[in-house]
Amino acid sequence: MTVSQNVSLKPFNTFGIEARARYFVRVQTIEELREVLTDPVYRSLPRLILGGGSNVLFINDFFDGLVIKIDITGIAVLEETADAVLLEAGAGVVWHDLVMHTIEQGYAGLENLSLIPGTVGAAPMQNIGAYGVEIKETFDSLEAVHLESGESRRFTKEECRFGYRESIFKHGLRGQYIITSVRFKLSKIPVFHTSYGAIGDTLREMGVTEPSIKAISEAVCRIRRSKLPDPAQIGNAGSFFKNPEIPRLQYETLKMQFPDMPGYVTSPDFVKVPAGWLIEQCGWKGKVIGQTGVHKYQALVLVNYGTARGEEIRALSEEVQKSVKERFGIQLTPEVNFL
Ligand code: FAD
Ligand code: EPU
Repeated sequence: MTVSQNVSLKPFNTFGIEARARYFVRVQTIEELREVLTDPVYRSLPRLILGGGSNVLFINDFFDGLVIKIDITGIAVLEETADAVLLEAGAGVVWHDLVMHTIEQGYAGLENLSLIPGTVGAAPMQNIGAYGVEIKETFDSLEAVHLESGESRRFTKEECRFGYRESIFKHGLRGQYIITSVRFKLSKIPVFHTSYGAIGDTLREMGVTEPSIKAISEAVCRIRRSKLPDPAQIGNAGSFFKNPEIPRLQYETLKMQFPDMPGYVTSPDFVKVPAGWLIEQCGWKGKVIGQTGVHKYQALVLVNYGTARGEEIRALSEEVQKSVKERFGIQLTPEVNFL
């Protein structure tokens, strides 16, 4: 384990923002993590945890502290019955590699979450979700190390307080724990989630008549590749904002003024409105401002055309928020973590 100095973070964030860290270290085991956390040289400095850097925006050009990149790997089956497995993956495992591994083994539950960038350890942070599924549905528990004491603790699903793009690690326990491994309960008897419109249509296009977890994964990958910009080509962090959930009454009032406004009922009293639609209606789709912009096919994705600074992306996001608020009275909340 080597702690490097004055390291560029550009290769470590999918926005491709050039920021530098005073200290940078990659940890491969819990022991290495504990060692670096308790080291008196770094104890008094701010510490920042990084997985794949696919949901972060570095708003400062210099981080005057220690960046800890989690590289803890390993996938193991802990328990197995005739119809289910309890599987554990290290926090540094690439999320899509885990999904592919489970599909190869015939374990169902993660296939709709194919191709989401990032690592296993960051997945519970915002209860990653896509195409009608969230990890909370297959999540069993996780292990995390306390940043100050270096002690490990197991968190159950209830303790993680998962919600839409939410968990306790983004709120009550923000910045206090480093997730080191995650356990999932997966099924050997698949229940297919194909209700999300585009999946059924894509399976038909692919000529699939009998769904399988592999076919669903392939369909999801196809849809994602057609809709979302590849960070290797153009810097981005996926959806920049969450889709707002607004009171039903507010939605019905807005719908009278904007009859085309889409909305999905999420509970008896709330409707989720696609932020991409709100942003597009405000005229942002495809706009380029300096090195930043709003993607031309997906208005919910803010992009770095090459040399944008984090502060410029943030300024654009605030302009977008302002115009959506003015036009629709809806406050957009960033999904991306500003660091
Ligand atoms: P990072 O960006 O490195 O970190 C995210 C946050 O978690 C930071 O606050 C960081 O400090 C913290 N963190 C990271 N690892 C740990 C750890 N081990 N312990 C404690 N804290 C940690 N998300 C979805 O939910 N659904 C999608 O469909 C989706 N699509 C995307 C598409 C694209 C093209 C991109 C670029 C992003 C997309 N995302 C999506 C967002 C992103 O992939 C997820 O949020 C992912 O879980 C982030 O993982 P990461 O390892 O890159 O986390
Ligand atoms: N829309 C527009 N204009 C746009 C984009 C979207 O009008 O430019 C409207 C359309 O009505 C469309 C609807 O928004 O039908 C939904 O768009 P899309 O299917 O692309 O999904 P999304 O709501 O933009 C969400 C997640 C994605 C996830 C997909 C698939 C959030 C914040 N985003 O996007 O997650 O992959 O659904 O489930 O919930 C991420 O979190 O980073 C992410 C990419």
